[in-house]
Amino acid sequence: MKYFLLSILVTFVQAGVINIQPKCVTIRNVAYEEEILKDNVHFPYQLTLDYDTKTLFFSYTARTSEIFKLAYLNLKSNDYGLVNGIKGGFATAVNKQSHIVYMGGEGGAYQFDYDTKSATRLNIKYDVNIWQMFYKDGLYFTTYPEEKAYLYKNQEVIQVPNLKDKVMALGVTKDGNYIYSNSSGLFIYNKSIGKASNIGDYVVNGITSDINGNIYFSTPSGIYYIDDENNDIEELLKQEDIYGVAVEGNGNIIYANEDSIIRLKPTKKNCVSNQKNEIL
Ligand SMILES: *[C@@H]1O[C@H](CO)[C@@H](O)[C@H](O)[C@H]1NC(C)=O
Ligand SMILES: *[C@@H]1O[C@H](CO)[C@@H](O)[C@H](O)[C@H]1NC(C)=O
Repeated sequence: MKYFLLSILVTFVQAGVINIQPKCVTIRNVAYEEEILKDNVHFPYQLTLDYDTKTLFFSYTARTSEIFKLAYLNLKSNDYGLVNGIKGGFATAVNKQSHIVYMGGEGGAYQFDYDTKSATRLNIKYDVNIWQMFYKDGLYFTTYPEEKAYLYKNQEVIQVPNLKDKVMALGVTKDGNYIYSNSSGLFIYNKSIGKASNIGDYVVNGITSDINGNIYFSTPSGIYYIDDENNDIEELLKQEDIYGVAVEGNGNIIYANEDSIIRLKPTKKNCVSNQKNEIL
């Protein structure tokens, strides 16, 4: 009996080996394969890249305490660790011009220090629970459970102009239009006509921009690009179990699933379909 069980186990393990063949996906007619950058991270959300230092920031849920923590992963050196000094760290954003990494958590907004790998609280009076951050001409952040959107600029915090409705996740396009989500769906606020319109019923769990300021977002079932010139949403990847997205300087997509951070890197392999566990 023991040997019988053992042999079943071995068969399963072997089947498992076949199944962890890198999955192949096609995006814009280019084939990509998965490269796992970090595994064993529970529910990684809110991916942000600092293009300058090639450091990826994300939050995850600590299994022991069930609270949010912020982690950094250097994509060049693989240096990985936890950010100290912030409670319930969840959100991050990078000011590319002044090389400041902002962080948000239960106690409000913080600034990251690369030397000590710790976060120091900013001297702003909003000790709110921060859900998401986005940097454009200032630091945009949303709060939870209020779902309000604020802008921190010139040492001042104001509610984001013309955005008084509920906001969970927020991005700002190159033209300065807001892309935001709430429980009613995804919206664009067109500042030239002063009007918000619904652009889909997506359940957004992450909004990010690439190095050129183009906006991408993720939902639990896909990754999307907002083509705001043609008013179009392009579905890049349709897949279950997505928790967040970031785009590298060279355009490669990094995304999170339930327990890992994955890079999609171009491959010469023949990728005929987007089937999961396809044997290449
Ligand atoms: C979400 O935002 C839209 C547009 O601003 C607004 O019409 C809608 O009422 C908001 N949804 C909720 C649940 O507040
Ligand atoms: C904003 O509205 C103007 C006027 O209708 C239109 O030309 C423009 O394409 C809109 N921009 C977006 C991003 O929808």
